[in-house]
Amino acid sequence: MVQTINAITPLDEARTILAGHFDLTYSKAIERSTAKVFDRVRDKIPEIEWPFYAPLIFQINRLKKEKDAVILAHNYQTPQIYHGVADIVGDSLQLAIEATKVTQSVIVQCGVHFMAETSKLLNPDKTVLIPDSRAGCSLASSITVEDVLAMRAMYPGVPVVTYVNTSAAVKAVTDVCCTSSNALDIVNRVDGDSVIMIPDQYLAKNTAKKTKKKVITWAGACEVHETFTAEDISELRHAYPTAKIIAHPECPPEVIDAVDFAGSTAAMIDWVKSTRPARVVMVTECSMSDNVASETTGVDFLRGCNICPHMKRINLENVLWSLHTMSEEVTVPAEIIAPARLAVERMIEMSRKRD
Ligand code: 13P
Ligand code: SF4
Repeated sequence: MVQTINAITPLDEARTILAGHFDLTYSKAIERSTAKVFDRVRDKIPEIEWPFYAPLIFQINRLKKEKDAVILAHNYQTPQIYHGVADIVGDSLQLAIEATKVTQSVIVQCGVHFMAETSKLLNPDKTVLIPDSRAGCSLASSITVEDVLAMRAMYPGVPVVTYVNTSAAVKAVTDVCCTSSNALDIVNRVDGDSVIMIPDQYLAKNTAKKTKKKVITWAGACEVHETFTAEDISELRHAYPTAKIIAHPECPPEVIDAVDFAGSTAAMIDWVKSTRPARVVMVTECSMSDNVASETTGVDFLRGCNICPHMKRINLENVLWSLHTMSEEVTVPAEIIAPARLAVERMIEMSRKRD
Protein backbone atom coordinates (compact mmCIF):
# COMPACT_ATOMS: atom_id res chain seq x y z
CA MET A 1 0.00 0.00 0.00
CA VAL A 2 1.30 3.47 -0.89
CA GLN A 3 1.60 5.53 2.25
CA THR A 4 0.23 9.01 2.11
CA ILE A 5 -0.04 11.98 4.43
CA ASN A 6 -3.44 13.55 4.75
CA ALA A 7 -5.14 15.98 7.07
CA ILE A 8 -5.59 13.43 9.86
CA THR A 9 -2.19 11.75 9.74
CA PRO A 10 -0.54 12.07 13.18
CA LEU A 11 2.69 14.08 13.14
CA ASP A 12 5.01 11.19 14.06
CA GLU A 13 3.49 9.04 11.30
CA ALA A 14 3.86 11.92 8.84
CA ARG A 15 7.54 12.18 9.70
CA THR A 16 8.03 8.45 9.14
CA ILE A 17 6.37 8.69 5.71
CA LEU A 18 8.41 11.78 4.81
CA ALA A 19 11.60 9.96 5.84
CA GLY A 20 10.81 7.40 3.13
CA HIS A 21 11.05 10.17 0.51
CA PHE A 22 13.56 12.63 1.96
CA ASP A 23 16.79 12.46 3.89
CA LEU A 24 15.77 14.00 7.20
CA THR A 25 19.08 13.51 9.00
CA TYR A 26 20.49 16.56 10.72
CA SER A 27 23.83 16.69 8.94
CA LYS A 28 26.59 19.27 9.37
CA ALA A 29 25.63 20.70 5.95
CA ILE A 30 22.01 21.16 7.06
CA GLU A 31 23.12 22.66 10.36
CA ARG A 32 25.22 25.21 8.42
CA SER A 33 22.56 26.01 5.85
CA THR A 34 19.86 26.62 8.50
CA ALA A 35 22.12 28.41 11.02
CA LYS A 36 20.78 31.89 10.18
CA VAL A 37 17.18 30.74 10.60
CA PHE A 38 18.00 29.17 13.94
CA ASP A 39 19.61 32.42 15.06
CA ARG A 40 16.30 34.19 14.46
CA VAL A 41 14.13 31.64 16.26
CA ARG A 42 16.44 30.40 19.03
CA ASP A 43 14.44 32.20 21.76
CA LYS A 44 11.26 30.45 20.58
CA ILE A 45 12.48 26.97 19.56
CA PRO A 46 14.60 25.01 22.06
CA GLU A 47 18.02 24.01 20.64
CA ILE A 48 17.22 20.35 21.34
CA GLU A 49 14.27 20.52 18.89
CA TRP A 50 16.19 22.14 16.03
CA PRO A 51 17.49 18.84 14.56
CA PHE A 52 13.80 17.92 13.92
CA TYR A 53 12.89 21.16 12.16
CA ALA A 54 16.10 21.95 10.25
CA PRO A 55 16.02 19.03 7.74
CA LEU A 56 12.37 19.84 6.90
CA ILE A 57 13.25 23.51 6.36
CA PHE A 58 16.21 22.49 4.19
CA GLN A 59 14.11 20.12 2.05
CA ILE A 60 11.25 22.60 1.65
CA ASN A 61 13.60 25.34 0.48
CA ARG A 62 15.28 22.94 -1.94
CA LEU A 63 11.98 21.67 -3.32
CA LYS A 64 10.60 25.19 -3.69
CA LYS A 65 13.27 25.95 -6.28
CA GLU A 66 12.82 22.61 -8.03
CA LYS A 67 9.03 23.10 -8.34
CA ASP A 68 9.18 26.83 -9.16
CA ALA A 69 7.13 27.57 -6.05
CA VAL A 70 6.75 30.57 -3.75
CA ILE A 71 5.53 30.39 -0.16
CA LEU A 72 3.16 33.12 1.06
CA ALA A 73 2.77 33.00 4.84
CA HIS A 74 0.44 34.90 7.15
CA ASN A 75 1.81 36.65 10.24
CA TYR A 76 0.06 34.00 12.43
CA GLN A 77 2.17 31.12 11.09
CA THR A 78 4.67 29.47 13.44
CA PRO A 79 8.19 30.94 13.65
CA GLN A 80 9.66 27.90 11.85
CA ILE A 81 7.40 28.62 8.85
CA TYR A 82 7.52 32.43 9.07
CA HIS A 83 11.31 32.63 9.41
CA GLY A 84 12.33 29.29 7.92
CA VAL A 85 10.53 28.77 4.61
CA ALA A 86 8.30 31.78 3.78
CA ASP A 87 9.27 33.96 0.83
CA ILE A 88 6.64 36.59 1.55
CA VAL A 89 5.02 37.27 4.93
CA GLY A 90 2.31 39.74 5.83
CA ASP A 91 -1.26 40.53 6.77
CA SER A 92 -4.21 39.64 4.52
CA LEU A 93 -3.90 42.82 2.45
CA GLN A 94 -0.15 42.49 1.95
CA LEU A 95 -0.49 38.83 0.94
CA ALA A 96 -3.25 39.69 -1.55
CA ILE A 97 -1.16 42.49 -3.07
CA GLU A 98 1.95 40.31 -3.22
CA ALA A 99 -0.09 37.52 -4.83
CA THR A 100 -0.64 39.83 -7.82
CA LYS A 101 3.13 40.09 -8.33
CA VAL A 102 4.45 36.53 -8.00
CA THR A 103 6.32 35.15 -10.98
CA GLN A 104 6.56 31.49 -9.90
CA SER A 105 4.09 29.00 -11.34
CA VAL A 106 3.14 27.49 -7.95
CA ILE A 107 1.94 29.31 -4.82
CA VAL A 108 1.94 27.46 -1.48
CA GLN A 109 -0.31 29.33 0.95
CA CYS A 110 0.68 28.98 4.57
CA GLY A 111 -2.44 30.45 6.09
CA VAL A 112 -6.12 29.64 6.00
CA HIS A 113 -8.32 28.56 3.10
CA PHE A 114 -9.83 31.96 2.23
CA MET A 115 -6.29 33.33 1.81
CA ALA A 116 -5.43 30.54 -0.63
CA GLU A 117 -8.67 31.22 -2.53
CA THR A 118 -7.73 34.91 -2.77
CA SER A 119 -4.36 33.93 -4.26
CA LYS A 120 -6.16 31.67 -6.74
CA LEU A 121 -8.59 34.45 -7.73
CA LEU A 122 -5.67 36.72 -8.48
CA ASN A 123 -3.72 33.95 -10.26
CA PRO A 124 -6.27 31.71 -11.97
CA ASP A 125 -3.60 30.19 -14.23
CA LYS A 126 -1.19 29.28 -11.44
CA THR A 127 -1.30 26.23 -9.21
CA VAL A 128 -2.26 27.29 -5.68
CA LEU A 129 -1.68 24.76 -2.90
CA ILE A 130 -2.74 24.71 0.73
CA PRO A 131 -1.02 22.09 2.91
CA ASP A 132 -4.25 21.34 4.81
CA SER A 133 -7.57 22.39 3.29
CA ARG A 134 -9.29 22.09 6.66
CA ALA A 135 -7.57 25.33 7.69
CA GLY A 136 -10.80 27.34 7.78
CA CYS A 137 -11.95 30.44 9.61
CA SER A 138 -14.96 31.01 11.88
CA LEU A 139 -15.70 34.25 10.03
CA ALA A 140 -15.64 32.63 6.59
CA SER A 141 -17.96 29.87 7.76
CA SER A 142 -20.40 32.32 9.38
CA ILE A 143 -21.98 33.54 6.14
CA THR A 144 -23.27 32.08 2.86
CA VAL A 145 -24.15 33.50 -0.55
CA GLU A 146 -27.86 33.19 0.33
CA ASP A 147 -27.29 35.25 3.50
CA VAL A 148 -25.66 38.04 1.48
CA LEU A 149 -28.41 38.01 -1.14
CA ALA A 150 -31.02 38.21 1.63
CA MET A 151 -29.25 41.26 3.08
CA ARG A 152 -29.11 42.90 -0.33
CA ALA A 153 -32.85 42.33 -0.71
CA MET A 154 -33.47 43.82 2.72
CA TYR A 155 -31.35 46.94 2.01
CA PRO A 156 -31.65 47.57 -1.74
CA GLY A 157 -28.95 49.78 -3.24
CA VAL A 158 -26.74 49.71 -0.11
CA PRO A 159 -23.16 48.76 -1.05
CA VAL A 160 -21.80 45.52 0.37
CA VAL A 161 -18.27 45.66 1.82
CA THR A 162 -17.10 42.14 2.61
CA TYR A 163 -14.15 41.27 4.81
CA VAL A 164 -11.63 39.10 2.94
CA ASN A 165 -12.19 36.44 5.61
CA THR A 166 -14.98 34.93 3.47
CA SER A 167 -15.34 32.31 0.75
CA ALA A 168 -14.78 33.21 -2.91
CA ALA A 169 -18.50 32.57 -3.50
CA VAL A 170 -19.45 35.22 -0.93
CA LYS A 171 -16.91 37.64 -2.42
CA ALA A 172 -18.57 37.09 -5.79
CA VAL A 173 -21.83 38.66 -4.57
CA THR A 174 -20.02 41.59 -3.00
CA ASP A 175 -19.27 45.11 -4.24
CA VAL A 176 -15.83 45.42 -2.71
CA CYS A 177 -13.70 43.56 -0.17
CA CYS A 178 -11.80 45.01 2.77
CA THR A 179 -9.24 43.81 5.28
CA SER A 180 -8.64 45.01 8.81
CA SER A 181 -5.96 47.38 7.52
CA ASN A 182 -8.18 49.28 5.06
CA ALA A 183 -11.73 48.75 6.42
CA LEU A 184 -12.36 52.38 7.40
CA ASP A 185 -11.01 53.73 4.10
CA ILE A 186 -13.09 51.36 2.00
CA VAL A 187 -16.26 52.10 3.98
CA ASN A 188 -15.68 55.84 3.55
CA ARG A 189 -15.00 55.49 -0.17
CA VAL A 190 -18.04 53.50 -1.25
CA ASP A 191 -21.12 55.48 -2.39
CA GLY A 192 -23.94 56.42 -0.06
CA ASP A 193 -24.60 57.11 3.62
CA SER A 194 -25.08 53.45 4.57
CA VAL A 195 -22.97 50.37 4.09
CA ILE A 196 -23.47 46.65 4.65
CA MET A 197 -20.25 45.43 6.28
CA ILE A 198 -20.03 41.66 6.67
CA PRO A 199 -19.44 39.21 8.27
CA ASP A 200 -17.43 40.41 11.30
CA GLN A 201 -19.74 42.23 13.72
CA TYR A 202 -16.78 43.50 15.75
CA LEU A 203 -14.72 44.85 12.86
CA ALA A 204 -17.96 46.51 11.69
CA LYS A 205 -18.71 47.99 15.13
CA ASN A 206 -15.12 49.20 15.53
CA THR A 207 -15.28 50.79 12.07
CA ALA A 208 -18.72 52.31 12.75
CA LYS A 209 -17.22 54.28 15.64
CA LYS A 210 -14.90 56.07 13.22
CA THR A 211 -17.19 56.77 10.27
CA LYS A 212 -20.24 59.00 9.79
CA LYS A 213 -21.93 56.29 7.73
CA LYS A 214 -24.57 53.92 9.03
CA VAL A 215 -22.98 50.45 9.23
CA ILE A 216 -25.25 47.41 8.91
CA THR A 217 -23.52 44.19 9.90
CA TRP A 218 -23.78 40.42 10.37
CA ALA A 219 -23.42 38.24 13.46
CA GLY A 220 -20.08 36.65 12.51
CA ALA A 221 -17.06 36.72 14.81
CA CYS A 222 -13.49 35.46 14.95
CA GLU A 223 -13.34 32.65 17.48
CA VAL A 224 -9.83 33.73 18.50
CA HIS A 225 -10.53 37.43 19.11
CA GLU A 226 -14.14 37.44 20.31
CA THR A 227 -13.16 35.82 23.61
CA PHE A 228 -11.01 38.74 24.77
CA THR A 229 -12.84 40.98 27.24
CA ALA A 230 -12.36 44.42 28.81
CA GLU A 231 -11.70 42.57 32.11
CA ASP A 232 -8.81 40.72 30.44
CA ILE A 233 -7.28 44.08 29.52
CA SER A 234 -7.73 45.42 33.10
CA GLU A 235 -6.07 42.29 34.44
CA LEU A 236 -3.18 42.69 32.01
CA ARG A 237 -2.81 46.37 33.02
CA HIS A 238 -2.76 45.34 36.67
CA ALA A 239 -0.23 42.54 36.06
CA TYR A 240 2.03 44.59 33.77
CA PRO A 241 1.51 48.27 34.69
CA THR A 242 4.30 49.56 32.42
CA ALA A 243 3.40 47.50 29.35
CA LYS A 244 1.68 48.82 26.23
CA ILE A 245 -1.28 46.71 25.15
CA ILE A 246 -2.26 46.44 21.49
CA ALA A 247 -5.05 44.44 19.83
CA HIS A 248 -6.58 43.33 16.55
CA PRO A 249 -9.85 45.05 15.45
CA GLU A 250 -11.62 41.66 15.36
CA CYS A 251 -11.79 42.08 19.18
CA PRO A 252 -15.02 43.46 20.71
CA PRO A 253 -15.25 47.31 20.88
CA GLU A 254 -14.86 47.42 24.68
CA VAL A 255 -11.48 45.70 24.27
CA ILE A 256 -10.42 48.09 21.49
CA ASP A 257 -11.47 51.07 23.67
CA ALA A 258 -9.22 49.82 26.49
CA VAL A 259 -5.99 49.24 24.53
CA ASP A 260 -3.18 51.59 23.45
CA PHE A 261 -3.35 50.74 19.75
CA ALA A 262 -5.49 48.62 17.44
CA GLY A 263 -4.66 47.56 13.91
CA SER A 264 -4.22 44.75 11.44
CA THR A 265 -1.50 42.20 12.11
CA ALA A 266 0.92 44.19 9.91
CA ALA A 267 -0.09 47.47 11.56
CA MET A 268 0.59 45.95 14.99
CA ILE A 269 4.04 44.80 13.85
CA ASP A 270 4.81 48.27 12.43
CA TRP A 271 3.57 49.92 15.63
CA VAL A 272 5.89 47.80 17.80
CA LYS A 273 8.87 48.34 15.50
CA SER A 274 8.38 52.10 15.28
CA THR A 275 7.24 52.79 18.87
CA ARG A 276 9.60 50.29 20.49
CA PRO A 277 7.86 50.06 23.87
CA ALA A 278 9.96 48.47 26.62
CA ARG A 279 7.17 45.92 27.21
CA VAL A 280 4.21 45.02 25.05
CA VAL A 281 1.26 42.62 25.07
CA MET A 282 -0.17 41.72 21.65
CA VAL A 283 -3.81 40.77 22.17
CA THR A 284 -4.17 38.51 19.16
CA GLU A 285 -2.93 35.12 17.88
CA CYS A 286 0.08 33.80 19.82
CA SER A 287 2.56 33.36 16.95
CA MET A 288 2.45 37.09 16.22
CA SER A 289 4.59 38.16 19.14
CA ASP A 290 6.90 35.14 18.65
CA ASN A 291 7.54 36.22 15.05
CA VAL A 292 8.03 39.92 15.84
CA ALA A 293 10.14 39.17 18.91
CA SER A 294 12.63 37.35 16.71
CA GLU A 295 13.16 40.50 14.64
CA THR A 296 12.91 43.17 17.37
CA THR A 297 15.52 43.67 20.07
CA GLY A 298 14.95 45.68 23.23
CA VAL A 299 11.20 44.95 23.48
CA ASP A 300 9.88 42.52 26.08
CA PHE A 301 6.89 40.60 24.65
CA LEU A 302 4.43 39.48 27.31
CA ARG A 303 1.76 36.84 26.81
CA GLY A 304 -1.93 37.75 26.41
CA CYS A 305 -2.89 35.77 23.33
CA ASN A 306 -5.02 32.93 21.94
CA ILE A 307 -4.13 30.25 19.40
CA CYS A 308 -5.98 30.03 16.07
CA PRO A 309 -6.50 26.28 15.56
CA HIS A 310 -6.99 26.80 11.82
CA MET A 311 -3.70 28.62 11.28
CA LYS A 312 -1.97 25.92 13.33
CA ARG A 313 -3.09 23.17 10.96
CA ILE A 314 -0.22 24.22 8.71
CA ASN A 315 3.12 22.76 9.75
CA LEU A 316 6.51 22.00 8.16
CA GLU A 317 5.55 18.37 7.60
CA ASN A 318 2.46 19.13 5.52
CA VAL A 319 4.19 22.00 3.67
CA LEU A 320 6.89 19.56 2.51
CA TRP A 321 4.29 16.93 1.59
CA SER A 322 2.25 19.53 -0.26
CA LEU A 323 5.25 20.49 -2.41
CA HIS A 324 6.23 16.86 -2.93
CA THR A 325 2.76 15.74 -4.06
CA MET A 326 1.51 19.12 -5.39
CA SER A 327 -1.55 18.85 -3.16
CA GLU A 328 -4.04 20.06 -1.92
CA GLU A 329 -4.82 22.15 -4.96
CA VAL A 330 -7.17 25.09 -4.41
CA THR A 331 -9.78 25.54 -7.12
CA VAL A 332 -12.53 28.11 -7.58
CA PRO A 333 -15.44 27.50 -10.00
CA ALA A 334 -14.99 29.45 -13.26
CA GLU A 335 -18.23 31.44 -12.84
CA ILE A 336 -17.14 32.66 -9.40
CA ILE A 337 -13.59 33.68 -10.32
CA ALA A 338 -14.39 36.85 -12.30
CA PRO A 339 -16.89 38.53 -9.90
CA ALA A 340 -14.94 37.52 -6.77
CA ARG A 341 -11.69 38.73 -8.29
CA LEU A 342 -13.31 42.06 -9.15
CA ALA A 343 -14.29 42.62 -5.49
CA VAL A 344 -10.70 41.91 -4.38
CA GLU A 345 -9.17 44.01 -7.16
CA ARG A 346 -11.43 46.95 -6.33
CA MET A 347 -10.15 46.76 -2.76
CA ILE A 348 -6.51 46.67 -3.88
CA GLU A 349 -7.12 49.60 -6.23
CA MET A 350 -8.84 51.65 -3.49
CA SER A 351 -6.02 50.82 -1.04
CA ARG A 352 -3.42 52.00 -3.55
CA LYS A 353 -5.28 55.30 -4.02
CA ARG A 354 -5.03 56.11 -0.32
CA ASP A 355 -1.17 55.94 -0.38
P1 13P B 1 -4.97 40.56 9.14
O1 13P B 1 -5.52 41.02 7.84
O2 13P B 1 -4.85 41.66 10.14
O3 13P B 1 -3.68 39.84 8.94
O4 13P B 1 -6.01 39.56 9.81
C1 13P B 1 -6.31 38.31 9.31
C2 13P B 1 -6.89 37.45 10.31
O5 13P B 1 -7.35 36.38 10.04
C3 13P B 1 -6.88 37.94 11.70
O6 13P B 1 -7.52 37.06 12.52
FE1 SF4 C 1 -10.22 33.33 11.18
FE2 SF4 C 1 -9.87 34.31 13.59
FE3 SF4 C 1 -8.28 32.36 12.75
FE4 SF4 C 1 -8.08 34.84 11.73
S1 SF4 C 1 -7.65 34.21 13.80
S2 SF4 C 1 -8.10 32.92 10.58
S3 SF4 C 1 -10.22 35.49 11.74
S4 SF4 C 1 -10.50 32.21 13.09
